[in-house]
Amino acid sequence: MARTATRFVCGQCGHDSAKWMGQCPGCGEWNTLAEEAAPGPASRGGAPRGRAVRPVALADVAAPRIPRLRTGIGELDRVLGGGLVPGSLVLLGGSPGIGKSTLTSMALGNLAGAGRRTLYVSGEESAAQIKLRAERLPGAALQVPVVAETDLDTVLATLEAERPEVCVIDSVQTLHAAELSGAAGSVGQVREVADRITRLAKARGIAVLLVGHVTKEGALAGPRVLEHLVDCVLQFEGERERTYRTLRALKNRFGSTNEAGVFEMAGGGLVEVADASARFVGEATRAPGSVVLAAMEGSRPLLVEVQALVSPSELVPPRRVANGIDRNRLALVLAVLGRHAGVGVGSADVFVNVAGGVRVDEPGADLAVALAVASAARGVVAGDGERPIACFGELGLSGELRSVAHPDRRAAEARKFGLAPLVSPDSAPTVRAALKAALGAPPRARAA
Ligand code: TYD
Ligand code: MG
Repeated sequence: MARTATRFVCGQCGHDSAKWMGQCPGCGEWNTLAEEAAPGPASRGGAPRGRAVRPVALADVAAPRIPRLRTGIGELDRVLGGGLVPGSLVLLGGSPGIGKSTLTSMALGNLAGAGRRTLYVSGEESAAQIKLRAERLPGAALQVPVVAETDLDTVLATLEAERPEVCVIDSVQTLHAAELSGAAGSVGQVREVADRITRLAKARGIAVLLVGHVTKEGALAGPRVLEHLVDCVLQFEGERERTYRTLRALKNRFGSTNEAGVFEMAGGGLVEVADASARFVGEATRAPGSVVLAAMEGSRPLLVEVQALVSPSELVPPRRVANGIDRNRLALVLAVLGRHAGVGVGSADVFVNVAGGVRVDEPGADLAVALAVASAARGVVAGDGERPIACFGELGLSGELRSVAHPDRRAAEARKFGLAPLVSPDSAPTVRAALKAALGAPPRARAA
């Protein structure tokens, strides 16, 4: 279908305009108008122009079990729910430098090595750059055919001609649809690119891995416009300078969103870390301010070290730095510690860090943060001084400890590494009781 005209539609109120404006005349919001291709001359109102189709009872729908395409990367296959589904679209998001191109190159390499037809389309790097990376990677990464191209029509024509079984588009923000005037990466462009690739992928049964950059705020660029279009949204997280990265499913039409995989960036590409707990416990320090959190990464328990440093501050207000946990969660924990456990850090700088660059986004981390901060503030090592102490639990606003999901799996993981007894909502009803169990009686009570 030839598309000639474009229009600009407000992402907030749907206001439709023939030209771009900074402020939407409909709702008054700024920068919400995005370019869209105008639809064909469809009738508005009146009799429908389409042809009616017969609905089918769900029981009569034929749904053959299509075998999945295994990428050969165990952690990736698990997060995908058992491998790639032919004809599906997977969006892989992550900040620059995290390893998206490496992960997708390795997956294609394994698939090519297993005799699958693959194609790597890059709008970011030249074929020579892609080759340099592939040379470092294990497996058959050098067998993957590549196309360095940014024009959407060319990419679609190539896909149509080559008919790969699996294709990587790196990245969706670098492709450009010629009929839209916006720059590559703009909301309208990203939506158009993803939409047309989706249609071709579904029609031809091509499994597409769409790489997408994440903005500073952590959203997949193109304000969530892609998330509902694709079948699966994976997020690759971690810090570029650190070794460990986690891969999580935020949405998965063909599997659970409870899965997460842990990787390590090494000299020869990404290495799966199957024994992440063992690594983190082994690396945990036995100093004031360090505890082990029995966290859940999806449906898997994971032991990670949480560290805190409390130091006198010259600044007003003092610094509150949180790496790997939510800053607001840290503020809440500090308030509860001050109000209900007698641990005031009002005029001190507080730094909290989850070791290894891991991010924990669950309320079960509260207790670990509280114990680490209290241990650092008092200068007392948590636990018996030989083994680190493990804990988990959510802090309530009145100082009570609340239960969190999967206490048994967390406790079993801690036991496996000899971290027992464990401080949890089962063993301590309040944060005060948890502090006593982990650090002993507070200094004043001891002196008395
Ligand atoms: P890359 O996959 O290009 O990240 P993204 O596509 O998400 O922007 O690679 C990320 C970094 O990983 C890059 O700075 C180089 C490094 N790296 C290694 O340390 N080892 C390797 O084997 C490879 C291929 C890359
Ligand atoms: Mg890249």
